[in-house]
Amino acid sequence: MSNSPWGDYVAPSVPPSSVVPARADVAATAAGPSANGAHPSGNGSGPSSNGSGPAGLSLSVIGTGYLGTTHAVCMALLGHQVVGIDVDQAKVDSLSRGKPPFFEPGLKKLLRIMLESGRLTFTSDFSAARGADIHFVCVGTPQEADSPAADLRFVNAALACLAPHLDRHCLVAGKSTVPIGTAERLTEFVQSGSPAGTLAELAWNPEFLREGHAVEDTLHPDRLVFGVASEWARDRLATCYAPIIAQGTPVVVTDLATAELVKAAANSFLATKISYINAMAEVCEATGADVNDLAKALSYDTRIGGRFLKPGLGFGGGCLPKDIRAFTHRARELGVGQAVGFLQEVDAINQRRRQRTVDLITEMACGDLAGVRVTVLGAAFKPDSDDIRDAPALDVARMLHQAGARVTVYDPKAMDNARRSYPDLAYAVSLEAAVTGAEIVALLTEWDVFRRADPAVLGELVQLRNIVDGRHALDAAAYRAAGWDYRALGAPTRLRAPASRPFEPVRDASLGV
Ligand code: UDX
Repeated sequence: MSNSPWGDYVAPSVPPSSVVPARADVAATAAGPSANGAHPSGNGSGPSSNGSGPAGLSLSVIGTGYLGTTHAVCMALLGHQVVGIDVDQAKVDSLSRGKPPFFEPGLKKLLRIMLESGRLTFTSDFSAARGADIHFVCVGTPQEADSPAADLRFVNAALACLAPHLDRHCLVAGKSTVPIGTAERLTEFVQSGSPAGTLAELAWNPEFLREGHAVEDTLHPDRLVFGVASEWARDRLATCYAPIIAQGTPVVVTDLATAELVKAAANSFLATKISYINAMAEVCEATGADVNDLAKALSYDTRIGGRFLKPGLGFGGGCLPKDIRAFTHRARELGVGQAVGFLQEVDAINQRRRQRTVDLITEMACGDLAGVRVTVLGAAFKPDSDDIRDAPALDVARMLHQAGARVTVYDPKAMDNARRSYPDLAYAVSLEAAVTGAEIVALLTEWDVFRRADPAVLGELVQLRNIVDGRHALDAAAYRAAGWDYRALGAPTRLRAPASRPFEPVRDASLGV
């Protein structure tokens, strides 16, 4: 049975030349526009005037942050003619020169290739969107300053600027995460403000990409969700994503409200899973049990699975924290606050991890952080990103600083962003410089360079061999063997028997075994 209000979904046919670069290394594979084989129509020329054909549509992408830039680049890679539009002229200039204003693995190279192909341009002029087949709305929906609600200022402003340029049958497809009911409201807003009137259709097409894997997730998503109000809108999105659908990617075609809800529900589930294992870490701390072993044992149950079950400092970033708050707020407005009341606890567990990490570091400092030299490794909210929005690492660094510690921070990519937002903290130029003279080292974002560091070498640089592993990312045994006092949330501090010790079954003749 199809879940589509318009019957069973049938993927459009795609010519054999339409191939999405393999997962392995998208940037490396795409050695050039011809090497990627991505332009389904094979001509790489401008927009299709009528949108016919399996791809080669004309697209506008409004908002060029992590989501919009990645989407614009990947859509150009699929063979579409794309214009990225942003009100920030500095961002537009930077992107037009082939420099993304943020770090995302593989994106810079692909951006340059797509600019050279002529299929991708950037501008701050909304009139450039005129005539496009689909307008993707990718602007941010941050948390409001004084409330848990989503701030829709940027979405509203983007559509107000776009609407006057919608003068023919076209699709406005929202990708931003918005409260349920937004798309319905925006439909009226767009149609009353555009020359095309009801021919300017609205769809919601949520995005699930993870920062640090944005290109791969866009080209090889787990699923596509089309929230649409007509078969025409469904087919238009299917045409746009034809090469991705041809890989066998599942497509869920549904209504606008469900599509909005899918995103809120997915992020809530992921946040809940992380907070669940961190709640178990709290129990472990009270009992001497080991949360790592617990997570491993749970993960072998295929109904539970191991992903997003990594205990530690918890989640941050520009999505999960604000999305669960906005969802809770919206559910209350809709009169179903009780149904998602647990998300408040999910949030609270997550916040407690930050304080608990500070407590653990304070314990190592014998109860007083005043003047203690603490090195914080990591500033970004997760590795392979320079995003510091609601970054747990920087929140902990701030709390340590407030408690009187002499905090030095090092991150491979997020230093500029961190310095701008936390100017009171000290910053080091390298891992080695950061740990030199430290009395306590706290690993708070699990970059590979930190994971791979040799505990013996680091041990020579620090003043005291004290380490708090806020992400369960280090080899505890190797650190302990190198003379470190190693501690992690939810893991017993006592030395444990080596895991490799052979299991010796009890042989007791009196018991018959
Ligand atoms: C998330 C969703 O994964 C993505 O689908 C959605 O579109 C946007 O929000 P992102 O914010 O990029 O993506 O990061 P994600 O990889 O989900 O990690 C979020 C946070 O959770 C990070 O701070 C990470 O360190 C933390 N995390 C993740 C854990 O603490 N434990 C885990 O097991 C997994």
